[in-house]
Amino acid sequence: MTHKVRTAVLISGRGSNLAALIEACRDRAFPAEISLVICNVETAQGLSVAAAAGVPTRIISHKVFETREEFDAAIDSALTAAKIELICEAGFMRIHSDDFARKWQGRMLNIHPSLLPAFKGIRVHRQALDAGVRVSGCTVHFVVPELDSGPIIAQAAVPVYPDDSVETLQERILAEEHKLYPAALKKVAEGSVVLRDGKVVYL
Ligand code: GRF
Repeated sequence: MTHKVRTAVLISGRGSNLAALIEACRDRAFPAEISLVICNVETAQGLSVAAAAGVPTRIISHKVFETREEFDAAIDSALTAAKIELICEAGFMRIHSDDFARKWQGRMLNIHPSLLPAFKGIRVHRQALDAGVRVSGCTVHFVVPELDSGPIIAQAAVPVYPDDSVETLQERILAEEHKLYPAALKKVAEGSVVLRDGKVVYL
């Protein structure tokens, strides 16, 4: 069997993107496998998603570390111990230290529920509704030290309707996230998308 890229998913919550990634990896031809889930919140729903699929989990709470650097060092040793090659952040609510982000540059992806560079940070759907945009969506990007600012791998757009609430918009975008993230992971894992000199290159 050809080598499947050992991928870790970092989560803090619900884990619906984790579920979509696990599902995509079930395909024998998919170039990656989800080898580890790291979660910083003991009660996160996503942990049961991982357990149900038989994916090993590690709970690493940021609360037991004094600094971001120490927290990231614990994550990094768990990744190294599991021989992880790629990281997918999926609703992971911690900001990384610069060193960690630099170490994993080009090998760490994140999904964000807006068309970046619009609406970074939190309460993203509220930001989109308040701005009155007619189109929003989601973005998969490589992670760099600056929050939600890494080179963009893929985006999907959805309409925003005048009577949308945060919930209806979130649901419409989430359905796209679940398709976009596996597609982006596939490209990075098979090596047809790379980060080169700070830019995403499709080979
Ligand atoms: C998603 O909307 C993702 O874009 C954002 O956090 C949310 C995580 O949802 N970064 P889930 O835990 O994957 O269900």
